Amino acid sequence: MNDNTPDTAPEFHDRVVLITGGTSGMGLATARLLLDGGAHVVVTGRDEARLQRTAAQLAQASDGGARLLTVRADAASTADLDRLVSVVGDRHGRLDGVFANAGVGVFQPAAEVREEDFDHVVGVNFKGVFFTVQKSLPLLDASRGGASVVINASWTLHRGMAHAPVYAASKAAVHNLTRTLGSDLAGRGIRINSVSPGYIVTEMFRSVVPDPADREPLRAEVPLGRLGGAEDVAETVAFLLSPRSSYITGQDIGVDGGLVTVIPSVLNTSSTPAA
Ligand SMILES: NC(=O)c1ccc[n+]([C@@H]2O[C@H](COP(=O)([O-])OP(=O)(O)OC[C@H]3O[C@@H](n4cnc5c(N)ncnc54)[C@H](OP(=O)(O)O)[C@@H]3O)[C@@H](O)[C@H]2O)c1
Repeated sequence: MNDNTPDTAPEFHDRVVLITGGTSGMGLATARLLLDGGAHVVVTGRDEARLQRTAAQLAQASDGGARLLTVRADAASTADLDRLVSVVGDRHGRLDGVFANAGVGVFQPAAEVREEDFDHVVGVNFKGVFFTVQKSLPLLDASRGGASVVINASWTLHRGMAHAPVYAASKAAVHNLTRTLGSDLAGRGIRINSVSPGYIVTEMFRSVVPDPADREPLRAEVPLGRLGGAEDVAETVAFLLSPRSSYITGQDIGVDGGLVTVIPSVLNTSSTPAA
């Protein structure tokens, strides 16, 4: 290739990215987007049969599975994470990016939270994210344009919501991690950021709001006027994983249609005086 030849390699060509919780929702959408961009992708989940169904769904995007590795691993188990990192090391020898996405929601008023609910949510959403990042460090390789970690946080860390006391606090904890680890990992050439999705229609969302009629008041809260899709978040995660965001670390990006930062307009625009 001479200097005048455009580089047509897809953006993630030859990059290796680990996605925890990639069998549905935002993890799955991100896996598909990165595979389309040429990446080698490692996807985890807790259930082998579900992982196989995911591999079948992604077969075309992953060149018949050649660029996809699925590994059964519970993000809350450090033994599983050790095994995961060992498998990824054997297959690829390095990681260019990690999307610490696996998360669970147990939504109930504070008075009803049981100790096992607390341990489950904190175990996956906080402990799981911390050790996913820590145990990936030996493989994260900054020599090819910098390595990048993205954590899936939540709008609930920014704005109080009843019925989410433990969930929201677990997300606030990982948001804080992006700052402390942003400082800790910068010297290794590793960037770390989080995304805070708003109302995103995934399995988790459907389990909390099963009746579509109950979603209308939520949609009405969103200034951009629609609920989000997993692909909305995947696009932002891909940006943060790519060298296009090479000067961004320690940040949180809301992917929420404005839910946290602005209110829907209540004024009739035709009667609003020109500014
Ligand atoms: N949907 C929303 O409105 C919303 C808003 C803000 C933030 N979030 C966050 O977004 C992330 C993704 O959620 P989603 O909405 O895309 O939900 P989802 O469709 O239910 O996907 C959750 C994924 O996490 C995996 N998972 C759950 N527990 C796991 C564990 N212990 N170890 C490994 N994998 C595990 C699930 O896989 P298996 O079941 O196969 O194990 C699944 O692939 C979560 O961290 C969630 O808190 C969601």
